[in-house]
Amino acid sequence: MDHFQIINGVLHVEDVPLPRIADEVGTPVYVYSQATLVRHAQVFRDALLNAGVDNPHIAFAIKANPNLGVLRVLAKEGYGADVVSGGELTRAMAAGIAPEDIVFSGVGKTAEEMVQGLKSGIGQFNIESEEEGRELAAFAETMGLRATAALRVNPDVDAKTHGKISTGKAENKFGVAYDRAAGIYGRLAHLPGLEMRGLAIHIGSQMSSLEPLEAAIGKLGALIRDVRASGNNVTHADLGGGLGVPYQRDAVLPTPEDYGAMVARATKGWDVRLMFEPGRVICGNAGVLLTRVIRVKASASNTPFVIVDAAMNDLARPALYDAWHDFDAVAPTGQTGAAHIVGPVCETGDTFAMGREIDTVAANDLAVFRTAGAYGATMASTYNSRGLVPEVLVSGDRFAVVAERIMPATILDAEHVPDWLD
Ligand code: LLP
Repeated sequence: MDHFQIINGVLHVEDVPLPRIADEVGTPVYVYSQATLVRHAQVFRDALLNAGVDNPHIAFAIKANPNLGVLRVLAKEGYGADVVSGGELTRAMAAGIAPEDIVFSGVGKTAEEMVQGLKSGIGQFNIESEEEGRELAAFAETMGLRATAALRVNPDVDAKTHGKISTGKAENKFGVAYDRAAGIYGRLAHLPGLEMRGLAIHIGSQMSSLEPLEAAIGKLGALIRDVRASGNNVTHADLGGGLGVPYQRDAVLPTPEDYGAMVARATKGWDVRLMFEPGRVICGNAGVLLTRVIRVKASASNTPFVIVDAAMNDLARPALYDAWHDFDAVAPTGQTGAAHIVGPVCETGDTFAMGREIDTVAANDLAVFRTAGAYGATMASTYNSRGLVPEVLVSGDRFAVVAERIMPATILDAEHVPDWLD
């Protein structure tokens, strides 16, 4: 069931009409549906369970949406967290996620971050290099602890997604080289500060086919056999995230059920606890970016520019990855036409769509960019001295501001003119 529906001609998130949020909070604003988040969390887990994956460990990749309110929803669904910085770790803990359910990924963990993870008692470090593993072991030993860890392997598989979000090719910075992984695992397993328990992969994001992932999982299975053959234990395997979501209404993508079936088939007989780090698939379709049309401007051609009050600093994905987000009027009239959708920021990259057939809109109309719940607000910046976009969580007929709008003046307050310029 979709929780974003037109009721009496007006787009609602659950039972809340979007104009109400625009009136009370202003625009642009991200709006999330709690019921959709809960549903996605359950569908993903059920797909694994129904396929026969026993006791999956699911850690939400909180980089996709680190909002505290959103994390609390997922914590209540029993989700753990995949974190990649000290800041994300602090958030995961603040949201009430059990430390033992937190996985610390990330290619450049600093000394401070490793110590923070150790002090917090997190469940697993995903080590990205032999060097990092040795440092972590030393810190743990000094603290009288053993760090539970998995080794991230680079399986050298092309995820066939956008180049900037591919992570599993040999030339990418992530994980240790496949051919060296068994040797590194064995050496790290001998360090007293480490409890090596598993292997991890994550080959890319927004994958629209399961084949690359199945190939990578196949290589991981062979590696588990190699590592065990040299006398080391492997009790856990972390398959990362990466499942794509439909950004275009008619796009057909693998479903969580397809994913579950593939995982069950590809990991048959492994005798490990499987771990997962989904991000986008949990929160992408649970959010929209609500925006107001500033004005419609005639162009040199017949196609007008629709200038909205959201910009590339609020939703960076189109500028960064040429990403598509469906654009719909909040109160559609039934009329459509071709338009260029742009924001107010002073560069041509601040373009959401060119020559797209959209609901006809006029100045002051409200509209949404769909599928903005993942990698949306969290990637916002203050470019052009714009404020930081707020976030709202809806549940039934209630809504709450779960991240306030940070005004440009507040950002200015943190800047100082040095005294020699007085
Ligand atoms: N695990 C690791 C180690 C990751 O690096 C990522 C995402 C995930 C899990 C979650 O992947 P997901 O299930 O969300 O695909 N900003 C980009 C996406 C970057 C993804 C980075 N890593 C975008 O807007 O498309």
